[in-house]
Amino acid sequence: MKRIKIKQLLSEPALDSEVLVKGWVRTKRGNKNIVFISLNDGSTINNIQVVADTASFDENLLKDISTGACIAVTGKLVESQGQGQQIEIKAVSIELYGKSDAETYPLQKKGHSMEFLREIAYFRPRTNTFSAVLRIRHSMAFAIHKYFNDKGFFYLHTPIITGSDAEGAGEMFHVTTLDLSNVPRNTDNSIDYSGDFFGKSTNLTVSGQLEGELGALALGDIYTFGPTFRAENSNTPRHLAEFWMIEPEMAFYDLNDNMDLAEDFVKYLIKYALDNCPEDLEFLNNMIDKTLIDKLKFVLNNQFVRITYTEAVSILTASGKKWDYPVSWGTDLQSEHERYLVEEHFKRPVILTDYPMSIKAFYMKQNSDGKTVRAMDVLFPGIGEIIGGSQREENYEKLLGRIRDLKIPEKDLWWYLETRKFGTAPHSGFGLGFERLILFVTGMLNIRDVIPFPRTPKNAEF
Ligand code: 4AD
Ligand code: MG
Repeated sequence: MKRIKIKQLLSEPALDSEVLVKGWVRTKRGNKNIVFISLNDGSTINNIQVVADTASFDENLLKDISTGACIAVTGKLVESQGQGQQIEIKAVSIELYGKSDAETYPLQKKGHSMEFLREIAYFRPRTNTFSAVLRIRHSMAFAIHKYFNDKGFFYLHTPIITGSDAEGAGEMFHVTTLDLSNVPRNTDNSIDYSGDFFGKSTNLTVSGQLEGELGALALGDIYTFGPTFRAENSNTPRHLAEFWMIEPEMAFYDLNDNMDLAEDFVKYLIKYALDNCPEDLEFLNNMIDKTLIDKLKFVLNNQFVRITYTEAVSILTASGKKWDYPVSWGTDLQSEHERYLVEEHFKRPVILTDYPMSIKAFYMKQNSDGKTVRAMDVLFPGIGEIIGGSQREENYEKLLGRIRDLKIPEKDLWWYLETRKFGTAPHSGFGLGFERLILFVTGMLNIRDVIPFPRTPKNAEF
C-alpha cells in the first residue's frame, strides 16, 4: 500500500478507506483496553489520532510506542468518537521503525525554552513551532522564485567564493588551503598567496550584488538567492554569520522604481504566507505572538512611508527622546532610532532614502549635493532594517573616484569597473535578508530560531 501524508489525509478524508501513514509519535495515552496515539509526519501542523485496541496488538509493541518513536500504521479511516478531532485511524497493524527511550528523549511534552531548543537543534524540527517556521520558510523561498519568475527576472547564480569585498566593510571569512601553522610570507612579511588554491586571497561572499550587476547589465532583470557570510561580531537577535539574501538587480530602474519593487515584493510575500500557510500562521499567532496575523494584514494594507534620511534626523531630534546613541546629521542610525520611526512615529514600515555618502557603500549613486547617495533602507516594525539597496553609480569617473577615496584595492574590482566603460546604464537593486523576512512573517523573536542550523559567533554546531 502507498503511504499517504497526513496533510492530504486530513484535507481530503476518504472515510472507511484503508490507509497507511508513517510518522513520529507526539503523545500516547489510554487505558488497558485502548491506546490513543497522536502521530505527526511533518507535512502539517496537525496530528492524526491512531486508535489501537490493546487486545489486537502485542503488549511489548504498544509499550515501545512512546513520544518520539517512529511508526508506520495501517488502518481504517473513520469518524472520530472523541472530542478534538474529526477523523482518526483505527489501527489494523503497526510497524515500529524506531524506538525512542521516553526517559532520555530530549523533547518532553512540557514546553521547552527557545534557548534549550537551540542546543538540540538536531531535534527541534520535530516541535510544532519549528516545523511551522520551517514550512513557512519553505513557502517563502518558493514564493520568491515565483514572484521573480512571473515578472521575467532571471535567477543568477553568483559565486560563493570571491576575491572582493562587495560591501567594503571588511567582514569576511577567508578561504584558503594554505598551511595555517606555516603561512608563507613575502619579504615585507605580508602573506604570500601565490601558492594558495586560487593563487590569491579569497573569501566567502558578503553579497552577490557586484556580480548581480554584471548580470543585470546583460539580461535586464536578475535576482540572486543564496547564502552570504559576514564575520561581524554581532551577537544580536537580528544577526547571523551565515544568512540567506535575495538580491534583485534591474537595468533602467531609478531609486523610485527600486522602492516600488521592494514594497510590492514584500507585500506579495506576506500575502502569499497568509494565503498559503494559514494553519501554521494561526498556530504561531496563538503560541508566539497574538498580534501576528493582524500585523501581517496591516503591513499588507498600508503604504510604506518614504522619507529622506535628512527628514528622519529632523524627526528624531525633534522627538525630545533621550537616545543611547545621540543623532545628528551624518551619524548612522541605530536600531533604537529606526524602531522609533517605525513603531512610534509613523506606526508602519518606512523607507529611508538619500543617506550621507560617508556611511554607505562605495557603489551607490552620488546625488548632485555632493553629500548624499541614492540609498534606501526599508525598516520594519520589530525588525529594523529588512532591506538595504540603492541606485548604483553608473558613471565611471565618479565610481572610480569613490573607490580611490575609500582606498578600496582597484585590482579586486577592475572587472566591475569595466561595465561602466562599455555600455553603462542606470540601474538599481536591493538585498532582502531572508531570515529577517521570516522573523517578521512568523513572529519569532530571535533570528537563530528561523534558520535550521544557525551560525553565530562561537557557534557552528551541527
Ligand atoms: O544592507 P546590506 O548589507 O546590503 C547589501 O548587502 C547589498 N549588497 C544589498 C543590495 O543592494 N543588493 O544587507 C542587505 C540585507 C539587510 O537589510 C538585512 O536584512 C540582511 O541583508 N542582513 C543580515 N541578515 C542577517 N544577519 C546579518 N548579519 C545580516 N546583514 C545583513
Ligand atoms: Mg544595510
